[in-house]
Amino acid sequence: MAKVSVVLGLNYGDEGKGKVSTFLASNSDIALRCTGGNNAGHTVELNGQKIVFHLIPSGILNDKTEAVIGNGVVLDPKVLFEEIDALQELGVDLKKLHISTRAHLIFLYHLVEDKLQEFLKGDDKVGTTARGIGPCYMDKANRIGLRIIDMYSDTFENKLRRNIKNKNQIFELYGFPTLDEEKIVADYLNYRDRLKPYVCDTVSYLHRAIEEDKTIVCEGAQATGLDMDLGDYPMVTSSNPTIGGIQTGSGLGAKDLTDIYGVCKAYASRVGEGPFISEQNNEIGDTIRELGHEYGATTKRPRRCGWMDLVALKYAVRINSITSLALNHLDTIGKLKRAKLCVAYKLNDKLYDEYSDDIIGHEEEVTPIYEDFDTDFDINGQKNYDELDEKAKVYIKRIEKHLNVPVKFIGTGPDNDDMIIR
Ligand code: GDP
Ligand code: IMO
Ligand code: MG
Repeated sequence: MAKVSVVLGLNYGDEGKGKVSTFLASNSDIALRCTGGNNAGHTVELNGQKIVFHLIPSGILNDKTEAVIGNGVVLDPKVLFEEIDALQELGVDLKKLHISTRAHLIFLYHLVEDKLQEFLKGDDKVGTTARGIGPCYMDKANRIGLRIIDMYSDTFENKLRRNIKNKNQIFELYGFPTLDEEKIVADYLNYRDRLKPYVCDTVSYLHRAIEEDKTIVCEGAQATGLDMDLGDYPMVTSSNPTIGGIQTGSGLGAKDLTDIYGVCKAYASRVGEGPFISEQNNEIGDTIRELGHEYGATTKRPRRCGWMDLVALKYAVRINSITSLALNHLDTIGKLKRAKLCVAYKLNDKLYDEYSDDIIGHEEEVTPIYEDFDTDFDINGQKNYDELDEKAKVYIKRIEKHLNVPVKFIGTGPDNDDMIIR
């Protein structure tokens, strides 16, 4: 039976999707990335060696697994080739990589526009990764984006020159330095040749694989809280990291997706601006950051840290049709000795145990209602659920009870092997 497992972030990103995806890829024929771009940073640790992926699905590390970058990804060729070079040095066979004809290209002007837009937003800035992601998706929606397939058309150079000229006019208007048109054109004509061997009709490729009963693991990027429709708009990314984005980003249909894993941490983190109801902007947050090494894999920014928020997670479980959970960093919560779970919100004397639109715009007025847990346990590197400390089991069971989905994977350390499978 064909099987497509999807790995989705349920919070604000950085839940450990890379780790869970590489693990599942070890039993999969194909590893797929089909959402976001190099705003993602997915860390995989294998026997102490750290590898960070931005565009290529981390499952490519497995010798037998083919890798696909789907049509929903926005692709910066410069970053892609850096990643390809680094993986080649590690001995990874890049002939296994297939990239969608329809993926949109990121150009240097998107990076400049990202900075300009943040500047113009002033105090309302999003705190983006500055990788040109939002402007690239904007051009896609505005129907002036250029896809990989467009690079091989006679009209490519003209369209690119038109875009550069138009963007330069805007940059000039705001006193931003203009870009060198000739250099950009020359760079992309080079990239076009280098990309050629990887380019593929990935929609047909994936559907053929399903017909041949192959197994696919789809590595989501970003997370529900950052979804531009269902997350904390406007403090979001410019795409849909939720389950619908997986379908439009790959060409796979709803019935093709058999297992949907929601990844979360035993606490919570967020990078960039925006609401974070259970944030601990205090000594506790600082301690979580140090114990969990919560610094961005893409931008190295310190991540904001706080308690796990079961109200927000329940919402994410519902909208993504999550079938089971991966709970990472349980070892880190053990080092904290005591931890809290946010089980409800209080706003204007009303209690909410599930997410409501009443909260939108009032996040700072919400009082999170917590339950307190004794988490004094050392489970570092443990692999067996039965041997797990009883206090850790109490914590897991409370999460399962609220979310009504089983925790299937439990992270007990940063290495890929540091995982309990139930
Ligand atoms: P992603 O973007 O969702 O793939 O997550 P990131 O790679 O950005 O951040 C997750 C970080 O947590 C990485 O540095 C992982 O190595 C680390 N990590 C993942 N699971 C665990 C775990 O169970 N315990 C510990 N201590 N670290 C973990
Ligand atoms: P992974 O896949 C955490 C955040 C940025 C910013 C907002 C918009 O590693 O979980 P963008 O550059 O996308 O326009 O920024 O989204 N953000 C992430 N935060 N993990 C990510 O990816 C993120 N990708 C984007 O910090 O707040
Ligand atoms: Mg990350």
